[in-house]
Amino acid sequence: MTTDRRIFIGAAVAGAAAIGAGLWWRGLSAPYVAAADRLTSPLPPRPETSDLVRFATLGANGHNTQPWRFSERADGLAIAPDFSRRTPVVDPDDHHLYASLGCAAETLAIAARARGLSGEVVTAGPEGLAMALRPAAPEEGALFAAIPERQCTRSVYDGAGLTSGEVHALAAEADVHGVAAIWREGAATEPILDLVIAGNTRQMANPAFVAELREWVRFNGAHAARTGDGLYAAASGNPTAPEAVGRLLFDAFFRTEAENDRYARHIRSSAGVFTLVAPSDDPAGWIAAGRAYQRMALRATAMGLRNAFVNQAVEEPAMRADLVSLLDLGAMRPNLVFRVGRAPPTPRSLRRPPEAVID
Ligand SMILES: Cc1cc2nc3c(=O)[nH]c(=O)nc-3n(C[C@H](O)[C@H](O)[C@H](O)COP(=O)(O)O)c2cc1C
Repeated sequence: MTTDRRIFIGAAVAGAAAIGAGLWWRGLSAPYVAAADRLTSPLPPRPETSDLVRFATLGANGHNTQPWRFSERADGLAIAPDFSRRTPVVDPDDHHLYASLGCAAETLAIAARARGLSGEVVTAGPEGLAMALRPAAPEEGALFAAIPERQCTRSVYDGAGLTSGEVHALAAEADVHGVAAIWREGAATEPILDLVIAGNTRQMANPAFVAELREWVRFNGAHAARTGDGLYAAASGNPTAPEAVGRLLFDAFFRTEAENDRYARHIRSSAGVFTLVAPSDDPAGWIAAGRAYQRMALRATAMGLRNAFVNQAVEEPAMRADLVSLLDLGAMRPNLVFRVGRAPPTPRSLRRPPEAVID
């Protein structure tokens, strides 16, 4: 066989393999694309319970476990904790679980009001929340429009700052629920970064933390679409791979130093960092923190801003105590920490369908 012919056959085989791999990946991502489209389709003018619940589930939630159950009540909906979806290592007292219920409740309230339903929270506590949905004048604003767009964007931002007007507009959303939003920017974010890195270093040294996180990673689009929950690798800026390969890559490359470097780049490229502090350190307060975060994230989205949590500074008790001193919080508990800035969107996280979360 001539050299030319060998080169030609080699190129043809490589080309066919590349096309095959491309088709295979398209096949893997097709269910993901379909699920993402279903999830974010517009809220009908006269929504049914399942439409409202679909919108509610677009709220942020820890590890995307979606720890909620929805049920109809006489005058509205109840959102109860689903303790089968706890993350006991990263969230031993269920603080994040209740904050996640708050994120869903706030999203539901904003969606309901846009469709002429009152959406007021009647009770909030260890049992979850009850929300009244009585006829009311429709209020369809920027926060409602931002619901399907909002996401946690875990990437490097463009380094530009926020105006004081922008910072105040965001903090005002937390104030609606009596939650303080403390802003730090520029050099003042460095001590927070130190706590994030110290917290992350502790978490990465804890095999139970790494195992819990790994359980919730979804390694490719088909995997994410099959479960409808968890942390889709591409949404965290990581490569996708077949599940078995993804687990091997996770074990090989998920390393403390690389993660700490990533957090340093993330925080230093952000405009600044918000810490949320709720008025009480109990499920009602944690729910309020989640509601405040969700409003701020929606307002940020409406303003063309992105955000992502850096909660390592509040998840490890020792770092949380240091953050209390740093921000001079006295007896108050810092609930959630997130950075804000500008960046293109990343692939979105999926949710389970309403039927899976309605009793
Ligand atoms: C209480 C709470 C804690 C969270 N903690 C973190 C965190 O420490 N790091 C992170 O990257 N994302 C964190 N998240 C974001 C979730 O992982 C994210 O909301 C979920 O994966 C769904 O993605 P989406 O918000 O982009 O729709 C947290 C969310 C909530 C509500």
